[in-house]
Amino acid sequence: MSLATSPQAIDPPLWLLAELTYRCPLQCPYCSNPLDFARYREELDTDAWIDVLRQARAMGAVQLGFSGGEPLVRRDLEVLVAEARRLGFYTNLITSGVGLNGARIEALREAGLDHIQISLQAADDELAAAVAGSAKAHAAKLAMARAVKAAGYPMVLNVVLHRHNIDDTDRLIALCDELGADAVELASCQYYGWAKLNRAGLLPSRAQVERAEAVTQRWRERLAERGREMRLLFVVPDYFAQRPKACMGGWGAIFMTVAPDGSVLPCHSARELPMAFPHVRDGSLEEIWYASEAFNRFRGDAWMPEPCGSCSERHQDHGGCRCQAMMLTGDPAATDPVCSKSPRRELIDRALAEAVETANGSAALVPRQAKHSRTFWRG
Ligand code: SF4
Ligand code: FES
Repeated sequence: MSLATSPQAIDPPLWLLAELTYRCPLQCPYCSNPLDFARYREELDTDAWIDVLRQARAMGAVQLGFSGGEPLVRRDLEVLVAEARRLGFYTNLITSGVGLNGARIEALREAGLDHIQISLQAADDELAAAVAGSAKAHAAKLAMARAVKAAGYPMVLNVVLHRHNIDDTDRLIALCDELGADAVELASCQYYGWAKLNRAGLLPSRAQVERAEAVTQRWRERLAERGREMRLLFVVPDYFAQRPKACMGGWGAIFMTVAPDGSVLPCHSARELPMAFPHVRDGSLEEIWYASEAFNRFRGDAWMPEPCGSCSERHQDHGGCRCQAMMLTGDPAATDPVCSKSPRRELIDRALAEAVETANGSAALVPRQAKHSRTFWRG
């Protein structure tokens, strides 16, 4: 591994995202896992994960997310949480809630888990079952959300918003309020992985987004009047913005993701890029973070083409998202087409126009599954 950049010039990672597995009992058509997730059957074992945790903490990472797939399918989750806690991480479990039960909540609490985020698909059983591909999941999630609060955890509820549930924003927030959430992330679907495949059937209209944002604002005011502390975060879809997000806070700047098979990635979608990524077996996490070609490829601004290269905003958004640039233009170094200065912005505008054309329910959604030859649901 060549030392492409001086270690002193790069801050250590703040976050480690431990994607413990791609296995998941649900089939959400907006899953951000790779389309070919089933290829990656190999998973790091408990000892290998503990080694990852120790290395990342020694480098200075303090925030740890256990995610997947569904991290609860790992029977060693409690062991990993306990080790993470012992090392001094602030531990977050990012889960669908399916696979949780009272005994497991207690075991995770004893292991020292700090924080739980549960995802909801919809405000009602019928839509939730259609989205998740499971008739039982919604009721299980509600029961587990109540159990998590009863166990004294701070709880974030996360809802991925898309064309089919965004008009229910009022009922969704009411449900989260009733469940006792401390924070709610109304996270508009971002079009990576399965969501990109299903984009035509998921993108909401601009009018839907504006209505949902207004509903959220009214809820903020009502909550404040009641003195109820429930933080509401509404994330507008990238496609409706004029500037891209500073994805991951910059490439190799804050986040280090370790995928289930041990690949080390600057973000969870980086497998979409035509690049080789190191494996935990290839060297220490420190070498990978500071010296690997993959992590240095999009650091700084020397790699930026025009218009980013001379743009006054390049240190704010870092030219946008590399994975989005790759998916939409075929060039991972291109200006993120979300940017109104991008010469390829028409790719976004065309997708928005197509979404309006398909809004009457003609776009079938493909559920996340090992072989995606089947469509199961027409919105
Ligand atoms: Fe950001 Fe590049 Fe757009 Fe400038 S041209 S605002 S750096 S994406
Ligand atoms: Fe990979 Fe944005 S999701 S860089």
